[in-house]
Amino acid sequence: MAAKPCFWLRCEKKEFERRSALTPTTAKKLIDTGFEIFVERDEQRIFDDEEFEKVGCKLVENNSWPSAPKDIPIIGLKELPESDEPLPHTHIQFAHCYKGQAGWTKVLGRFHRGGGKLYDLEFLNDPSGRRVAAFGFHAGFAGAAAGALALAAQKKGQTLGLLEPYANEDAMINAVKSELGGSGKGVKALVIGALGRCGRGAVDLFRKIGLDENDIYKWDLAETAKGGPFSEILEVDIFINCIYLSSQIPSFVTRETITGAGKARRLSVVVDVSCDTTNPYNPIPIYNINTTFSKPTVAVDGLGPDAPGLEVISIDHLPTLLPREASEQFSEDLLPSLLEFPRRETARVWTEAERLFKAKVNEAVGR
Ligand SMILES: NC(=O)c1ccc[n+]([C@@H]2O[C@H](COP(=O)([O-])OP(=O)(O)OC[C@H]3O[C@@H](n4cnc5c(N)ncnc54)[C@H](O)[C@@H]3O)[C@@H](O)[C@H]2O)c1
Repeated sequence: MAAKPCFWLRCEKKEFERRSALTPTTAKKLIDTGFEIFVERDEQRIFDDEEFEKVGCKLVENNSWPSAPKDIPIIGLKELPESDEPLPHTHIQFAHCYKGQAGWTKVLGRFHRGGGKLYDLEFLNDPSGRRVAAFGFHAGFAGAAAGALALAAQKKGQTLGLLEPYANEDAMINAVKSELGGSGKGVKALVIGALGRCGRGAVDLFRKIGLDENDIYKWDLAETAKGGPFSEILEVDIFINCIYLSSQIPSFVTRETITGAGKARRLSVVVDVSCDTTNPYNPIPIYNINTTFSKPTVAVDGLGPDAPGLEVISIDHLPTLLPREASEQFSEDLLPSLLEFPRRETARVWTEAERLFKAKVNEAVGR
């Protein structure tokens, strides 16, 4: 066993991924409590290597984790590149292999053959079953910003073009305000799922770009209990869906309610942060593709020649637009669990994640 508890922050290999599971801030907090932190050099990461070096991390070569001592846990965010190589280390990351996703048996087979372990970040839960760390807030924040940018483009008779990550929150807020002519004042927005992580982020962005508080309609379960579709959605400029969909519910809007409103409809941008695009219960059945940073909007077709335009944004990796703050918030939320990692044989958050891993490996190798 290494002398001190350690983590090895690996580089991210997924294209465009600039976020990081550890940040200079959380790495320093770990170091201050006696951890040793190795950080792979990574030009893709939003944080400079030197920021980690300055707080006492040991920089190591890019993508060198396969040759790290086997008792050092490797931490990262996204999936490892596809391969058949056995995995002997302990990995903490999102692996997207517990819900029958494409290639899930192959991924778990690598751990099985190598004798390694996976603690999947998606399944680290607090005692009430809520995730200890998730990227929701900045997904909602960035989704609302994208929605406001799409509205600003429409007002100029244009369609929103390429979206690129912003250096920080202020840069995003200033860019949106500037596109809206200095402030978002006068814009009306409705956020459903407003009490959740994404919803709170969306509301925060709208406040920060200058919408009047009375023009930010915040709905959650209580307001949708009467059952959709809701005419109120058609009376705002931007509708943001941030719900966690867990069962079949009546649609929030339909093509019929949209066409029924005719020219009186104010709604011109829908941002589906929840992105249940292909879910048969998608409560916004007016589009069927996920949009992208290079083409952020899709027009709702079939509304008739005289109907005002309506565009949907359905990007499923919105936090990537704010890599610095999204990483800071996620890593800070993860920190208490990371501090418990040396006691992972008994600490509930880790024992439960390990139990799930073992069950999934048995399922995968039993096939
Ligand atoms: N597009 C992206 O980049 C991105 C990123 C992160 C999360 N997400 C997705 O966003 C969704 C929300 O995530 P979260 O972390 O904010 O979840 P959350 O559990 O924190 O919040 C969901 C909120 O929706 C509310 N809600 C659920 N059903 C509702 C209904 N029928 N009517 C009104 N309110 C309802 C809940 O009460 C809760 O307040 C998830 O589907 C998640 O996968 C998308």
